Amino acid sequence: MFRTKLIVIAVFAIGCLSACFDPPSSRFSIASSKDYGASLFRQNCAICHGQEADGKTLDDGTKVPSLRTGEFKFRSEAEIYKQISEGGNGMTPFRTQLSEREMRLLTDLVHNKLRK
Ligand code: HEC
Repeated sequence: MFRTKLIVIAVFAIGCLSACFDPPSSRFSIASSKDYGASLFRQNCAICHGQEADGKTLDDGTKVPSLRTGEFKFRSEAEIYKQISEGGNGMTPFRTQLSEREMRLLTDLVHNKLRK
């Protein structure tokens, strides 16, 4: 009886500890994700937006925005898809390089995984 109680308490304590030490809002890591969308991002987008989409300034002075935080220009999935497909204002269009499905995966990555 006493042993069972001890085990229950021990299990509970371990559960609490691991909950405390797990960062509550661990952010989505593009670099370590096995998703196809993340892999597409690494191949096509990281060069401008940065490895983890935090944005960066290119050698020619172009300021590439973070896709995670800040004032977003495009908010809906339709607008994000359009930006990926058509590009503009310093961004290359991907319509001819990626399939519709691939652009949708990237839209989902930006909208649902990075901007949270
Ligand atoms: C040649 C550099 C370059 C590449 C490559 C690039 N981008 Fe961009 N991207 C930009 C720039 C510059 C902007 C800002 C455009 C603007 O201000 O209108 C931008 C804007 C965006 C935005 C809109 C951000 C907002 O404020 O709403 C999204 C979404 C985006 N890019 C996603 C992607 C994705 C996904 C890829 C890969 C398929 C990609 N970009 C590849 C340069 C790039």
